[in-house]
Amino acid sequence: MNTLLSESTPPRPGGGSVSPGQALTIRGGHPLSGRVTVKGAKNLATKAMVAALLGETESVLRDVPDISDVHVVRSLLEVHGVTVQDDGDGVLRLDPSGAVSAHFDEIDAHAGASRIPILFCGPLLHLLGQAFIPDLGGCRIGDRPIDFHLDALRAFGATVEKLPSGIRLSAPGGLSGANIALPYPSVGATEQVLLTAVRAKGTTELRNAAIEPEIMDLIAVLQKMGAIISYEPNRVIFIEGVDSLRGYDHRCIFDRNEAASWACAALATDGNIFVTGARQQEMLTFLNVFRKAGGEFDITEEGIRFYRGGALKPIVVETDVHPGFMTDWQQPLIVALTQADGTSIVHETVYENRLGFTRALVKMGADIVVHPEGIASADRRVPRRALEQAAVITGPTPLHGADVVVPDLRGGYSYVIAALAAEGTSIVRNVDIIRRGYEKFLDKLTDLGADFDVVG
Ligand code: EPU
Repeated sequence: MNTLLSESTPPRPGGGSVSPGQALTIRGGHPLSGRVTVKGAKNLATKAMVAALLGETESVLRDVPDISDVHVVRSLLEVHGVTVQDDGDGVLRLDPSGAVSAHFDEIDAHAGASRIPILFCGPLLHLLGQAFIPDLGGCRIGDRPIDFHLDALRAFGATVEKLPSGIRLSAPGGLSGANIALPYPSVGATEQVLLTAVRAKGTTELRNAAIEPEIMDLIAVLQKMGAIISYEPNRVIFIEGVDSLRGYDHRCIFDRNEAASWACAALATDGNIFVTGARQQEMLTFLNVFRKAGGEFDITEEGIRFYRGGALKPIVVETDVHPGFMTDWQQPLIVALTQADGTSIVHETVYENRLGFTRALVKMGADIVVHPEGIASADRRVPRRALEQAAVITGPTPLHGADVVVPDLRGGYSYVIAALAAEGTSIVRNVDIIRRGYEKFLDKLTDLGADFDVVG
């Protein structure tokens, strides 16, 4: 069986599978109601797959979502000689015993639109003494540089050479533990340090680390492999390097970004969605904001039900690193805020270009003004960075159908729920991007009663 590499959505009336460049015709104005199940987090599963390269024996990863970011990482592992077996039902077996150096062209061809290849550096340097990283993809939501990653790798003793086609790294003498302070608690750079330090000689101290739940889950994976990692207050992580690691057996933490997306879909369309697999603990911050905006939720052992508690209310919120309000949540939330009675402000502080998606919402009738330099606000937490933007959303404004093009993963999801909330028919183009992070997206929409066709 090879379910993770196939689009498992069979063609059917009102649904169907999506291939690159396809569009959806969406007839809006109906609430989304029903149940959806979220599997493992995109932002853990892909990293845990890379971690398998560090083990001397096979790893088993469970609850892996069938999304294109997982497919990209699988391909990259395979070109490096890792055997990946799909047991079905989200279970992947990853055997690194045949790992080899891959040819530049092969890596480049398999990198696709993903930033994960950068995380292959540490494991490949330990395994082969060298690594090649092609130009990185990922969502176009800002410059998304990799300077923290490269500085950290240099601190471990790697030599970094920039080529027109990508970056070549080498460490023929091996890597040694380092003292690293990140300029910003970057998720990716923290993962880079973890994946490199576990096999480096000596101890690594990482300050200003990201502490997202997916990072804690990656630490759990690495501990199962034999790593020694401890974390202290104030974003400090210590890693004692070990000589060898073994494979792991791990069930991915649930995808809280997908759960939050469906919660916002219920809020925007005045629907009622039970998200099986969603858990309260990792969503505390989201749930507070959801409630302040007029949402209500019931938490059970199985998952969380999301719906409107009454009229939607305007809020002021700023994105931040964990335990703050995640940047990945603001895009679907803004769609719901177009229906709140009053003026909301969303400050985006993590990426410098993650509010451009609102232009299409304005085309659909929303009243949203983006302030590219941000705006002062009395109730701000301590700003972490100079870069920030703010969106001022004034509602409620009825949304109407429009012809829009998906710009990035979360923006794309937001356009689909905006079209579902809108009166009339919309065309949402370039929907294949949504498959990067939402498993069986069209099946789930169909199960929730969405009225759409796949075109193109
Ligand atoms: N940054 C730098 N230099 C670096 C690395 C990051 O300046 O070397 C900056 C970025 O430009 C950005 C900020 O630091 O402004 C935060 O970036 P971070 O490294 O934390 O993000 P990431 O690891 O690239 C992951 C998720 C994103 C999620 C962010 C923030 C993955 C594959 N991606 O990205 O997920 O938004 O953390 O939590 O884990 C998504 O799921 O839609 C998505 C974009």
